[in-house]
Amino acid sequence: MNKRKILVTSALPYANGSLHLGHLVEYIQTDVWVRAHKMSGHNCRYMCADDTHGTPVMISAAKAGLKPEEYISKIHKERIEDFKKFRVNFDNYYTTHSKENKEFCSLIFKAMKEKGHIKEQEISQMYCENEKIFLPDRFIKGTCPKCGAQDQYGDACEKCGATYEPYDLTDSGCAMCGSKPVLKKTVHYFFKLGDFQDGLQEWLSEKHVQNEMLNKLKEWFGEGLKDWDISRDAPYFGFEIPDSEDKYFYVWVDAPVGYMASTKNWCDKNGEDFNSWWKNPDTEIYHFIGKDIVYFHCLFWPAMLMCSDYNLPSKVFVHGFLTVNGEKMSKSRGTFIKGSTFAKYINPEFLRYYYSCKLSGTTSDLDLNFEDFKARINSDIVGKIANLGVRTSAILSKRLQSSTCSIAEEDRELVESIKAACPKITELYENLDYSKAMREICRLADTANKFIEDSAPWTLIKSDPQKTREKLTAALEIFRLLILYLKPVTPCLAETIEKYFNITPMTWDSINESIENKTIEKLPHLAQRIESEDIEKMIKETIEENSNEAKKETIEPLAPECTIDDFLKVDLRVGTITSAENIEGAKALLRLKVDIGGGIEKNIFAGIKSAYSPEDLVGTKVVIAANLKPRKMRFGISEGMVIAAGEGGQNIFLLRPDKGAKNGDKIH
Ligand code: MSP
Ligand code: ZN
Repeated sequence: MNKRKILVTSALPYANGSLHLGHLVEYIQTDVWVRAHKMSGHNCRYMCADDTHGTPVMISAAKAGLKPEEYISKIHKERIEDFKKFRVNFDNYYTTHSKENKEFCSLIFKAMKEKGHIKEQEISQMYCENEKIFLPDRFIKGTCPKCGAQDQYGDACEKCGATYEPYDLTDSGCAMCGSKPVLKKTVHYFFKLGDFQDGLQEWLSEKHVQNEMLNKLKEWFGEGLKDWDISRDAPYFGFEIPDSEDKYFYVWVDAPVGYMASTKNWCDKNGEDFNSWWKNPDTEIYHFIGKDIVYFHCLFWPAMLMCSDYNLPSKVFVHGFLTVNGEKMSKSRGTFIKGSTFAKYINPEFLRYYYSCKLSGTTSDLDLNFEDFKARINSDIVGKIANLGVRTSAILSKRLQSSTCSIAEEDRELVESIKAACPKITELYENLDYSKAMREICRLADTANKFIEDSAPWTLIKSDPQKTREKLTAALEIFRLLILYLKPVTPCLAETIEKYFNITPMTWDSINESIENKTIEKLPHLAQRIESEDIEKMIKETIEENSNEAKKETIEPLAPECTIDDFLKVDLRVGTITSAENIEGAKALLRLKVDIGGGIEKNIFAGIKSAYSPEDLVGTKVVIAANLKPRKMRFGISEGMVIAAGEGGQNIFLLRPDKGAKNGDKIH
């Protein structure tokens, strides 16, 4: 056989939030393809990584109170666990925040620059003076200039579909702090994509992208290829652009380069030669992506590769988007389901099977309908496939000492006809037409089940044990073949069978092996039916997670960083409230006297009346800001501030020092 060298990637998921069932469409589609090719004996390797850079990751990290590096490493660990659960088997799962990636980015950037494809240009960008940061379009919200819909992002209106510049929004605000952004001038680097117009146009043929994508791409060419802004200003979590000041590569520059960096990292760990993968006309490179990121993978990325003389992709495979129960995944309906939540209630391999039933290598969207999902798993996997093996092996072990014999002449034709389906099924996998492959396998399973019904081993055993053994041997052989055909989709099921049949890991060549004249252990229960309850529990948990998350999201963003010296300017002291009284005419305030030791008593007006009665306060130990500049108020002078937390109203909570603290103690 001609052993091919094949490098496969899935899009690198943002290290920002959890892996959900939408993402998994892609990783499962890719993983099935890779497994099918590995089973053919090709040198096929699957590379991926976390996409870790950019403003959204930076902000999520800040919200979580972590440094970006800490945040992405936490996500990385979660990711690896999630992928394991769904049997997505990368040869390497790396990160874009790596030294390898940094090196490749500078290398490619230098090539772009030397060949004259970079220009510098001054532009105006939206800037938040409060957060001291340039705002990406998605971090600006306001009213759509076209239809007046409120709360729309800075690039496009979700109501009317209009696209615009962020400064076109009426009453725009920074999505983090709400303050009004200003336009600020800055110099950016642009990659002159237009220089590659001819090369790209030539490259973009059916050989390299699906036909249905070509029309979309032609449209873009029609509009003319625009220069691509590849830089961002500090502060930015990413790689600094070589020989620049405070300019960083836009995350979409280093993200696809991450495919190479992951390969390099794998090569170094495995004694492989990087250039034999990325600078070798005999290596095939395939990218699997969703339809939202075609522009990046079919225009920017090939142009970057052309410029730096690496292999161009052999093909970019684009898939559609997942809908759940016919609608876009939705947090409020509980259909924005995390992979980890799904795996708690339902066997992840069932999702692999269901997606495979729905995937046919096109860019159409696919729907996960839970009723249909349950029906199909229970009928196909549990009813047709698992059951075939379990009941056959049960009779064999109970009544026929667990041993198979040779397949009878009269049954050979059936077994051969099942074997004959192998080339067609592998071809369907290779062409990404998993849905047809699954249908074909189910059709074969129907034939096998009919064969068992017709042979009726449970009655035949009474009159002719040897004939029964023959029938069961043929049935088990067919069962083995079906499990083999499903192996790219349900690898776990295949491993269980390999273990029980005591056979080596199956490849496509295994159709020529046989289970004749062997001792076959009774199979365990192979697949649990899905119950509606499991699905309901999963959705319930998802709704709870989302509402917890929503609560978390409403916390006020952290104030800009301050130094310890800034902090120590405020002299926080322990004190005891010695008197507390209502003030006539004041709605919110109480007048407090607080003893902070050393004979000092502070007069403080505190806005805590809605939450505390004066009589409950006397004798209470509190923390106060003791060196605040005295402030003249309507009712007198306030000489400090009592520290309290909460939203206001009844929800005001005094911070009280732990026992042992004495008046006048300083807070460190
Ligand atoms: N980080 C970029 C990719 C960089 S590749 C150099 C990105 N990340 S993502 O996390 O948003 O998406 C990862 C992949 O999952 C993309 O290919 C995307 O199309 C796919 N999907 C995300 N949501 C999806 C659905 N709801 N349905 C199907 N695929 C989806 O884009
Ligand atoms: Zn609009």
